[in-house]
Amino acid sequence: MNVQWYPGHMTKAKRQMQEDLKLIDLIIELVDARVPISSRNPDIDSLGQNKARLILLNKADLADERQNEAWKEYFQNRGVHVVKVDSRSGAGMKQVHAMIQEACRDKIERDKKRGIKSRPVRAMVAGIPNVGKSTFINSFAGKACTKTGNKPGVTRGKQWIRLNKNVELLDTPGILWPKFEDQKVGERLACIGSIKDDLLNMEELALILIAYLKERYPGALEKRYEVSEGGEALAVMEEIAKVRGCVKKGDELDYAKTAGIIFDDFRSGKTGRITLEWAEQEV
Ligand code: G4P
Repeated sequence: MNVQWYPGHMTKAKRQMQEDLKLIDLIIELVDARVPISSRNPDIDSLGQNKARLILLNKADLADERQNEAWKEYFQNRGVHVVKVDSRSGAGMKQVHAMIQEACRDKIERDKKRGIKSRPVRAMVAGIPNVGKSTFINSFAGKACTKTGNKPGVTRGKQWIRLNKNVELLDTPGILWPKFEDQKVGERLACIGSIKDDLLNMEELALILIAYLKERYPGALEKRYEVSEGGEALAVMEEIAKVRGCVKKGDELDYAKTAGIIFDDFRSGKTGRITLEWAEQEV
């Protein structure tokens, strides 16, 4: 599975982010709760030096709740503030507000000591494509926000969303690219739909997903498709094909269609709340 990104885009996005970083106090980094490591770009650690940091486990509604907790602990143990959120429903937004203050406590204290009247924390949302940055900004900012532009000292044209007297958010997110050093990263991102399906062999990927589910979430496929999970991944896929009537002319099984169903169900949460990277494996 060889996935190509365009280096030109990457360089431009990174440069843009470096510029924007000069304007902010806090990076709100979104990761996908189903793949919290593969959906991160470690460059953010060097790019974001000297900035307060907050990680959001987004799409927590689609991930295994036990793993959400395990990942929260994983990041907390590494000294990072973290909140699990569902940007689509808005769950977790209150905690994000509270955690922003917590993450920026040092800066707020510093300002106070220097006699600077508390100015709002300036924050920027960052993450890889499709992780939910726009959805989060919309959900977090809600309707109450007012846009403020062209402040003195701020690059012309930058739009800030004033969330309340304490927080301003840059309205354009920072885009990071995943790191495909390990083949597993590409596979996992493909499973959650972060890579265009037409770039990949979805049938092969479906077998990888089935094998994973059989091992880590036994019973999930059985429950969804009423198939037996006892056999090899291919046998399970063939059973799903039959149950779902994925048959071509001449009684040949339609693997492509079956893979499509398996991924639609998985990505929309119909197969259950599933996490593809377990925290205890990464420690
Ligand atoms: P981006 O700006 O980082 O590229 O991501 P964007 O907000 O466009 O979100 C990508 C997809 O992820 C969208 O789905 C969005 O609805 C979904 N999404 C974002 N946050 C969450 C979340 O917390 N939970 C769930 N379940 N989904 C989330 P889409 O299929 O592209 O669009 P739509 O079907 O929602 O319109």
